[in-house]
Parts: sequence; C-alpha cells; structure tokens
Amino acid sequence: MKRDNFGSSFGVLAAAAGSAIGLGNIWKFPYITGKNGGAAFILVYLACIACVGIPVMLAEFALGRKAQKNTVGAFKELAPGKPWYLSGGLSVLTAFIILSFYAIIAGWVFAYMFRAGSGELMSVSAGNLESYFGGVISNSKEPMLWTLLIISLTASIVLFGVKKGIEKCSKILMPILFVILVALMIRSVTLDGASKGLEFLFKPDFSKLTKEGVLEALGHSFYSLSLGMGIIMTYGSYVDKKENMMSLSLKVIIADTLIALMAGVVIFPAVFAYGFKPGQGPGLIFVTLPAVFKAMPYGGVFATLFFLLIAIAAITSTISLMEVVVACVSEQFNMNRKKAVALITVGLFLLSIPSNLSFGPWANVKIFGKNFFDFFDFITSNIFLPVGGILVCVFASFVFGVKNTITEITSDGIYKFKLKNLFVIGIKFVAPILIGIILLHSIGVFNLIGSDKINAKTLSVYGGFLLLPCILIYRYMVKRAEYAKKS
Ligand code: PHE
Repeated sequence: MKRDNFGSSFGVLAAAAGSAIGLGNIWKFPYITGKNGGAAFILVYLACIACVGIPVMLAEFALGRKAQKNTVGAFKELAPGKPWYLSGGLSVLTAFIILSFYAIIAGWVFAYMFRAGSGELMSVSAGNLESYFGGVISNSKEPMLWTLLIISLTASIVLFGVKKGIEKCSKILMPILFVILVALMIRSVTLDGASKGLEFLFKPDFSKLTKEGVLEALGHSFYSLSLGMGIIMTYGSYVDKKENMMSLSLKVIIADTLIALMAGVVIFPAVFAYGFKPGQGPGLIFVTLPAVFKAMPYGGVFATLFFLLIAIAAITSTISLMEVVVACVSEQFNMNRKKAVALITVGLFLLSIPSNLSFGPWANVKIFGKNFFDFFDFITSNIFLPVGGILVCVFASFVFGVKNTITEITSDGIYKFKLKNLFVIGIKFVAPILIGIILLHSIGVFNLIGSDKINAKTLSVYGGFLLLPCILIYRYMVKRAEYAKKS
C-alpha cells in the first residue's frame, strides 16, 4: 500500500510547527518564565534550544525520512535484527500516555473558551476565580466529556490521513492562531502600564535565576519542540526526499520560539498593567488571566479569543501525538487506518479516566506518592522523553551513523550543510549529555550545583566544563579518523 505524504513544504511546516506549538508555548512557557524571574530564564531557554533542539530535531527528521516508516518500523529498517525497535516502541507508548492527559488540559481550555464566550467566566468575582477553577476541574463528569470531545475531534482529523487530515487542518489553523496572537499582543502592549511587563520579559536579571530554573529551561526546550517521542520522526517519514531538512527544522524551531515569546508578550504586559503577580504557576491562564480580562474593556471578547488560541494550539499538537500511535499500529499490525483510529480512541479515553478522577474523587489514590495525573506526567515528561531523546542521539550518531544521518539531512548532498561540524558535536555529545542531566536530575540522583542561586559567571563556568570535554573528544576522534585514513 502506498504511504500517505505531505503535499507541500508549507504543509509540512504547518504540521510540524503545529505539533511543536501547543500548551507548552502558551500555557507552560509563560508560567515557568513568570516563576523563574523572566528575561534571564528566557536567555537560558534560547541557549538550550540551540544546543539540544536543533541537533535532535534534525536527527529525528532525517531518521524518519530515511526509513519512510512509523517509529517502530523505522528502527527495524535502519537497524535490522537489533532490539532498537524497542526505542520506537517507547516513543509510541510515550505519545499514547501523554495524549491521555494532554487531552484533559485541552478539555479545560475548551470548557473555559465556552464559559468565556457565554459570559459566565466574566461574571465570577476576581476573588473566586481560583475556587471556580477548582470546581470546574474537580467535578470529573464535565471534564471527562471535554476529554472525550478532544480525543474524538483529534481522531476525526487523523482519520483523514496525513495530507487530507493533518496537513489540511494545520494549514488552516496555524495562520488563524498567528492572527489571533498578533491581535491579542496589540491589545496587551497598548494597555497603560504595559511596559513593566515587557521589561520583565526582556530585561535579564541573573540574580533571579536558580539552578531549578536552568534545568526547567532545558527540559522545556525539549518538550516544547515535541522531541523524544517520535513525533518529528513520524512526520519526517512523510516528507519529500527533496525537502531541505535544515531550513525546515530551523523554521519549526524559530516558529515555536517566536510563538512562545509572543504568548509572553500577550500575557505579562496585561498582568502587570492590572497589578497582578506573574509567578502564579500553572493557574496563570485559568486564574490570573481571567481576572486580568475582567478588568479590561471588552474583556469577555479577548478572553474568548485567548482560549480559542490555546484550543487551536492544543489540537494541532494532539493530532501529532495520535499520528505517532496510529502510524505504528496500522503499519506494524497491518490494520486499516479506521480500525486503528477507533481502537486507539477507545484506549485513550479509558486511560484518561483515572487521570481525570485524580482532580476529584481519586485525589488521594496514589502510585509512588503521586496521583494518576501527576504520575503519568512524571514518567513521560521526566523519564520516557529524555530516555527517548538520548536513544535518538545515540542511534543517529553511532548506530545509523553520523555520516549517514548527514547524508540524509542534505538529501544526498543536494544541499550544503555549513554547520556540519557543530551538528556532529551537538548530536554526539552536547545534546545527549544535556538531556542526560535532565534525566538524572528528574529522577533525583543528581545535584548539579550546591547552592540554589546561579549567576552568569557560574553558568558560563559550568557550561564550559560541559563543553570542553565534548570538544576535546571530538577533536580526538577527528584526528583518529584522519590518521586511520592515511595509514
Ligand atoms: N510541543 C508541545 C507543546 O509545546 C507539547 C507536546 C508534547 C506536543 C507532546 C505534542 C506532544 O505544547
């Protein structure tokens, strides 16, 4: 059977950027920026994107396109007879679990969008918004219905396939997302007192940066680009051989980062203009922002638009998560797409139930000291994703081989790869080491720096310590290869 493919360069870009741009950009990035003191955190985040995001994304796209298969099939094809396909299996499992709880948060967003549209949200008094939010998410039945709706909506798009479903939908939704974001940005920066928010975002104060903040930036850069769970690899398998992978990856990364920053520009100037605090944490968009919108003229309209924006961002991400699983199940088990989608939809909904209940009646049901939602979030974001990321780096560098990976990135030499050497250092050393640090930190066996405060000096010293051995090892390997060639 002929595989479906993306139909145009813009289509691939819209779909991959659509996956990357999600709740992570508009919900999580602003709140962790708020919690970690603003601009200095953003600078660290940008550095992480450059060191980890670029090489891993290039490698994932390349491996996927080379194999032209789902993640399990791809590892089987590129390393036949070896257990590497398990790494593909891990990414499918990760995508499946993440989708089961990502859909819950997306459901809250839909619930808020309708409540903002009907005027109900604007009629809640500012002081009651927190308990109102608690009420919405803990009454289990309604959130479950929203979760079911999100999963079904996602399934109905994925059902139509890559070109007619995912690509078409992303090509329509992503430009709409951008226009809404620009409109909201204009509203926010023209408020009296907006400049304080801009200063918070763009004027770095390194004294506010903590080691936790640095690690959070590192982890988030990875998550935000949808890396480590086979999404980019699966999408890569639908990309045309002539597509320029470097420019595609850079565009996706720039779009993802730009949208996160724009979301910051929507949120912080408004938060500061109305005298609220930026460090509220996860409740930033569900508690602080509704209060901000209430204080603003035509706040109901802006609130509805804002939640619509997040809803769009969430859906273009959920379809990418589902595609990883659907591609694998349908190709590996030779099942038709319809059947695979139906099966996965049911499975996802069942798995989402315990997570949904953990905000209400099952709040005290714990596995390893965490409720279901937190447990699933923890094992995927903190363990499976980094493990998946490291495996991709190792596979691309040493199993498939960095040379073959580069050949695929350049479409067999059609395109020049000017920063080839940097890519080699990145994928072989810098990225896996940095991702390894996320992993060790999140399982609690590793404590990077004794004191909690980090300043620019300690940061560069530690950064140097990490980079130096990588460069030396790389130099050594290059020399050795040259030597071997000569003799
Ligand atoms: N990259 C997405 C975001 O920023 C997160 C995501 C994770 C999307 C996993 C799909 C899969 O929200």
